[in-house]
Amino acid sequence: MKILNVELGDRSYPIYIGSGVLEDAKIITSHIKTKIICIVSNTTVSQLYLENLKNLLDDYQVIEAIIDDGEEFKNYDSLNYIYTKLLENQCNRDTTILALGGGVVGDIAGYAAASFLRGIPFVQIPTTLLAQVDSSVGGKTGINHLLGKNMIGAFYQPQAVVIDLNVLKTLDNRQISAGLAEVIKYGLIWDEDFFKYLEVNIENLKQLDFDHLEHVIYRSCEIKAKVVSEDEKESGIRAILNLGHTFGHAIENCLGYGEWLHGEAVGCGMVLAAKMSLTQAWLSESEFDRVKDLIFRANLPIEKPKIDYENFIGAMKLDKKNKDKEIYLVLQQGIGKAIVTNKYSSSALDDVIKS
Ligand code: NAD
Ligand code: GLY
Repeated sequence: MKILNVELGDRSYPIYIGSGVLEDAKIITSHIKTKIICIVSNTTVSQLYLENLKNLLDDYQVIEAIIDDGEEFKNYDSLNYIYTKLLENQCNRDTTILALGGGVVGDIAGYAAASFLRGIPFVQIPTTLLAQVDSSVGGKTGINHLLGKNMIGAFYQPQAVVIDLNVLKTLDNRQISAGLAEVIKYGLIWDEDFFKYLEVNIENLKQLDFDHLEHVIYRSCEIKAKVVSEDEKESGIRAILNLGHTFGHAIENCLGYGEWLHGEAVGCGMVLAAKMSLTQAWLSESEFDRVKDLIFRANLPIEKPKIDYENFIGAMKLDKKNKDKEIYLVLQQGIGKAIVTNKYSSSALDDVIKS
């Protein structure tokens, strides 16, 4: 097992990474200081892993809040259901939330923890590749609004993140590819050598080779932890973690939440961001081809779905990075470096959206 730390002063926390870490009760219980635990999961993940987890928690009163499965349920109704379960069981600040699931469960459970009684502790147990490399780390929690993705939420850090690779064995290929989108993102924004490693090893990763997977989960969490430690609340550099997301969130919102997976929308969004970078001569033709090829080889979509221009640009105008009604984009300057900027040609953006 490997351990990384997210350095945030008195809110620092460890990320445990390895195969079988969920078999060791102490890893989780050492981060629980309350007598009551509320496990938040969904109808799919709970069937697979809830009983095993509960078996580790004999010394606690355990309650469950099982929400419906899907991005379309990342909403106020699911959040309110968690509050109701907590209140029905007379939970107080003597309760820790355990988030058992992918990014949807992790984001909602984290926001429930941030907001219930103005904040109770929570632990992330991410069960998708995407959640293991990205959403469980860094404390962004929240829900969607019909008008915009992740519009309601809070920065709220977990007590620990417990990543067990074994749970990935029950994920389907489409979900593995969705997670690889966020992995590729780290290479593009931060580490050209990591990008090269992914170019060489993408087939091993798709086939769930655990040695390669453990390396990429570790490196992804390491990069994310570094960025979050520097800029927890996204007043600067953290925004580069949103490469491809301005386009991606617009795709998710315009198609209807759940139609494309978040990782698929981000994969396609990174191709659109690379195309924009190409138009500004910040990325060469051959670099653009490498980006597109790797995303394609990860089995992610590289062409934008048909969406009306006005709807698409309307969704982009609601992006959280925007200022003074101007759309800010994360663009690349070569492979391994990204910037957040509104200094690009708006006609190029129109062309990319309409292409
Ligand atoms: P998800 O949570 O919807 O999970 C994907 C699917 O896999 C679901 O059907 C789920 O039930 C199933 N599943 C989960 N674990 C499984 C397992 N081990 N075996 C079998 N099936 C399993 O989607 P996701 O891709 O994990 O997360 C996407 C969400 O994460 C989006 O809402 C996105 O906005 C959010 N996100 C948040 C951050 C952040 O920093 N907070 C970062 C990236 C993405
Ligand atoms: N996934 C973007 C962030 O955590 O900032």
